[in-house]
Amino acid sequence: MVTRLKLNNSRLHDRIEALSKIGSTPEGGSRRVALTDADKEGRDLVISWMKESGLQVQIDQIGNIFATLKGNKSGRPIMTGSHIDTVGNGGHLDGCYGVLAGLEVLATYADLKEKPNHDLCVAIFTNEEGVRFQPDMLGSLVYAGGMIVEEAHAIKSTDGKTLHEELIRTGYLGTMKCGSVIPHAFIELHIEQGPVLESKNDFIGVVEGVQGISWTGVTFRGQSNHAGTTPMNLRKDAAYAASRLAVSVREITKEIGEGQVGTVGVITPKPNLINVVPGEVNMTVDLRNIDDEKLRKAEKMLHEHIENICQEEKVVAETEKLVRFEPVQFDKRICDLIAEVTENVGFSYSRLNSGAGHDAQMMARLCPTAMIFVPSKDGVSHNPKEYTSKEYLDMGADILFETITKLDQIEF
Ligand code: HGY
Ligand code: MN
Ligand code: MN
Repeated sequence: MVTRLKLNNSRLHDRIEALSKIGSTPEGGSRRVALTDADKEGRDLVISWMKESGLQVQIDQIGNIFATLKGNKSGRPIMTGSHIDTVGNGGHLDGCYGVLAGLEVLATYADLKEKPNHDLCVAIFTNEEGVRFQPDMLGSLVYAGGMIVEEAHAIKSTDGKTLHEELIRTGYLGTMKCGSVIPHAFIELHIEQGPVLESKNDFIGVVEGVQGISWTGVTFRGQSNHAGTTPMNLRKDAAYAASRLAVSVREITKEIGEGQVGTVGVITPKPNLINVVPGEVNMTVDLRNIDDEKLRKAEKMLHEHIENICQEEKVVAETEKLVRFEPVQFDKRICDLIAEVTENVGFSYSRLNSGAGHDAQMMARLCPTAMIFVPSKDGVSHNPKEYTSKEYLDMGADILFETITKLDQIEF
């Protein structure tokens, strides 16, 4: 049995801080959008820490990074990890916390020359956020066999580059075959990014599942025209159509009820000038629900609203399904193990589903998987104001560590 090793918490906090400085924004956030120079710099830094601990580092064909500490018996590793790419102006913890806490567990084993039974592996998945390349969770999706690597390589970024070009440019087009190492189990530690744990005054979240995600791109096309001379009844106003759809998305969430969320995150009028009726608007709709039937109902309602708006506003619409991931239930055995570990150390916890998407929802296709949450202050995330206290971060890292050492003793 491994004695109760003590994580080096100050190293964990120093590394979170150091990584956050790469791509730092004037508002104090981080901007390391997937496969940009800043993302490359962040990857290079974390790999240097992995090598400091003597871990074997491999990179696969989609740029996922795997650092392994050899155990006493070879075979399927216990894997942990997350992502370090960010949204446009994100916080310091989303994804990074799970990667660096996972690295801290392996570094502690290495420091103390303790050998686990299983190989331990910490992963960094490519393009989890999906803001530059869609879909999100792309690296883990390909790793789990949800998309062939060639299809992913051809995906064009919002700035017109293919994923393949950017992997080559940043030096992260690896040779390891995606999915070639099937984990014994996968555990992801992450901030909750929502208000549940804080509202219940709980320190730990035992995450039992992730809600389904549906991303739709909608382009409304009408007619650009003069803002002063065009009578209202002759307008084909794409911006008005798009605004009506944004209101409809809110109505859909009310009609479906508790548990349905809907977001219009992108809404870009063209030509975007004060005295021109917009002839075109590109927008996105993000719908989520843990209940797949309700999510399908919401998607159907969305398309009905688009048709009505086109008829009434005399515009046309083009839609594109950007992402559709079914809801995922995590492995009950691992969820119960996390709960047991948390009870043993006397931390309060809640069982909950994740509102945000995570790489774990892809890894659940491959092996027994679950997640651990720590609270987010005011439930804020995808925002420079994202914050979790060091005490909570340490508690989460401890639960991850305990869970991994327990998993190391059992076979599924
Ligand atoms: O969109 C999500 O839920 C994740 O942050 N990519
Ligand atoms: Mn994340
Ligand atoms: Mn995120």
